Amino acid sequence: MAKVRPPHTNRLRMMLHNMPRKEMSAAFIASTLLLLIFMMSSDTETDMSSKDASLRSLKAISTTTTIPSTCNAALSSDFASSSMVPKVSNDNARRLAQGGYTLIAQGSGPVELVGLFSMALSEIQHSSNIFGSVGELGVHHGRFTSCLFITARENEKLVIADIFEQQNKNEDKSGNGDKAKFMEGLAVYGLEEKDLHTVFTGSTLEIPMNWSQKRNFEPFRLVSVDAGHTELLTKNDITIASCNLLIGGIIVLDDVLHPHWLGVTEGIFNYFHEMKGNSRQQLYPFLLCNGKLFLTNDLASHGKYYNSLKNNPVVNMFLATDATMWGGSSMFLMNEAEFLFCHSPESFNAHDVWASLVY
Ligand SMILES: C[S@@+](CC[C@H](N)C(=O)[O-])C[C@H]1O[C@@H](n2cnc3c(N)ncnc32)[C@H](O)[C@@H]1O
Repeated sequence: MAKVRPPHTNRLRMMLHNMPRKEMSAAFIASTLLLLIFMMSSDTETDMSSKDASLRSLKAISTTTTIPSTCNAALSSDFASSSMVPKVSNDNARRLAQGGYTLIAQGSGPVELVGLFSMALSEIQHSSNIFGSVGELGVHHGRFTSCLFITARENEKLVIADIFEQQNKNEDKSGNGDKAKFMEGLAVYGLEEKDLHTVFTGSTLEIPMNWSQKRNFEPFRLVSVDAGHTELLTKNDITIASCNLLIGGIIVLDDVLHPHWLGVTEGIFNYFHEMKGNSRQQLYPFLLCNGKLFLTNDLASHGKYYNSLKNNPVVNMFLATDATMWGGSSMFLMNEAEFLFCHSPESFNAHDVWASLVY
């Protein structure tokens, strides 16, 4: 918009023009100073940007994540039975990995690589005696949920949450969950509704922070966060996940760095920032793959997951560790943690590799 010079600016110029030189120089300095002060205080853009800044800081204060007193962050597991028997038969799991998941409607990005890594990571967790619940916040019809549930062992509980039919609570219109379709999708890999321990219907804002305690399930070993995509909902959901996460548990956050769902990126970076110095709730990313960020709450586990994937010849062909081609640092770094970045080489069939990892 063009700026209109106020009439008093022109009057001032006339006065200066008719003045003797000596008086003029003193008057000139004084009036210029006055004019500058006046312009600074009346300039709309300057006003707005300072208002913006204070609005932003107010917003930041009002949405700051305070750790709820009911949060039990970074829990240890006291699983009596750490049976390695899978909850879903290996045949059903392999069929799903080979493309059976396409029978469940797509609600998110491609799953073959993130499914493959979820399987590989679950085996690392189980062989490290980390057993716990498996779940997803924001399931849609359950495509990615299926990739998580086929990693579960027989005593691990399955937990889900979605707004489902209460779509009036879906603030950002992210996805459109459907409970009946979700339950139908379980049959694709041989599960039924009765195999689920907790089905929460409603907004994740209504989930208590001590959810696992309240609903009597073991804290999460593996949990996906893919419900509301605003900054506030993302931080809320990450906090639920981390308050109900085993030490060495894994959170998979969808749509990180997605250009349309920037609330997710804002949410996770604000979470990192606000949890600085809080080692019980801080999260460390170790893999970014097809928009999903894999994080854990324990630095030793971060190192274990990062190195095990990087050194595993079956899966490392799908991973990049060296960022040199972009210049700057040679590492992929986020929240001061090194992470792996996935890609899909054409010469390898990710579905076959995924199926080969089923155990
Ligand atoms: C992007 S979709 C999830 C896709 C799913 N993870 C998949 O792999 O197919 C988002 C889901 O979150 C649900 N949702 C949106 N906002 C929510 C909220 N505040 N609380 C709970 N669920 C929510 C929607 O109903 C929808 O099913």
